[in-house]
Amino acid sequence: EKGGYEHFMLKEIHETPRVIEDTLSEYLDDEITIDASFAFGVSEIVFVACGTSYHACLIGKYFIEKLADISAKVEYASEFIYHQPPTGRTLVISITQSGETADTLEAMRIAKKRGAKVLTITNVLGSTATRIADFVLYTRAGPEISVAATKSFIAQLVVLYLITLKLSHIPRSEKVELLKELRLLPEVVKRILDSKEEIERISKLLAKYENLIYIGREVGGPVALEGALKMKEVSYIHAEGYPAGELKHGPFALLGEKTPVVASLVRDHTYEIMLNNIKEVKARDSIVVVVADEEDKEVEKYADFVIRVPKTNPIFSAVTHSVALQLLAYYTARERGCEIDKPRNLAKSVTVE
Ligand code: M6R
Repeated sequence: EKGGYEHFMLKEIHETPRVIEDTLSEYLDDEITIDASFAFGVSEIVFVACGTSYHACLIGKYFIEKLADISAKVEYASEFIYHQPPTGRTLVISITQSGETADTLEAMRIAKKRGAKVLTITNVLGSTATRIADFVLYTRAGPEISVAATKSFIAQLVVLYLITLKLSHIPRSEKVELLKELRLLPEVVKRILDSKEEIERISKLLAKYENLIYIGREVGGPVALEGALKMKEVSYIHAEGYPAGELKHGPFALLGEKTPVVASLVRDHTYEIMLNNIKEVKARDSIVVVVADEEDKEVEKYADFVIRVPKTNPIFSAVTHSVALQLLAYYTARERGCEIDKPRNLAKSVTVE
């Protein structure tokens, strides 16, 4: 059942290229086939979710604001109920792999009561979320057994790319270009999976530590949060993710030989300042592991280790970097002999509030 893999988590990470293909073929023909009626008359989007799905929301907010020019907020589903009521012009988008997470379902019910339209992005046909929502979009990740969400997270990002491009008013030529790259993502991810030796090597080192800090900027910020969540969930290493600019405001105090830093470095307008952050971290004696483009030579001057991923349009780095960080978490946990598919104290779907 594990298809020759030692754990479901590794098997499921390896299913990612197929999952991207399946999710794309669900909603992408010559054009994006998503029916966007959920967006009619909408003045703002509020995303709600928990855990990894919450991180997908944070990434989705960047896409939507950047390319579709709609203002977006992200709320933990468990906190949504304490905030201002959405209006009839609000679209609430809930993201939930299982479609059964109690807090997310409750947030959806409350959103509807307050007059908002609700769209859910879920992986499970006929789940409770699909029955509450006004609109449903499916990820085609297939069953996910490992408690740690991996392939389903990437599928969520794919749906978010498609929604964003569907709603976007960018010039047609740009859209065509992005869709072309999106279709290449399965191949791109395969290349990451095929070149995992360096990740395995770095994992052997990270496995010796008890604290890790993950950093990134813009879309790399939530990628860092998700990388850290995956690491703590399966390896039990205390890992925290921060937007890189926050380091100076407290976490700097933790830097030093005992706290390696994992940085997501994207070749866009955040590149120079991230490089600077990496130098600052290095100067405080932390080991630095950087996820970077395979063409980036500059980074080698400052990083102790570089995890190379294929170069893509920066918005797709959320996929490439996340897959690399999932593998990093997996191999680190394996090195520490953890019960990877069923981490202690955790359930695959959290059906109590
Ligand atoms: O099924 P959902 O997407 O609603 O689940 C939300 C979280 O419980 C889930 O993502 C959790 O954080 C994962 N175990 C993370 O790997």
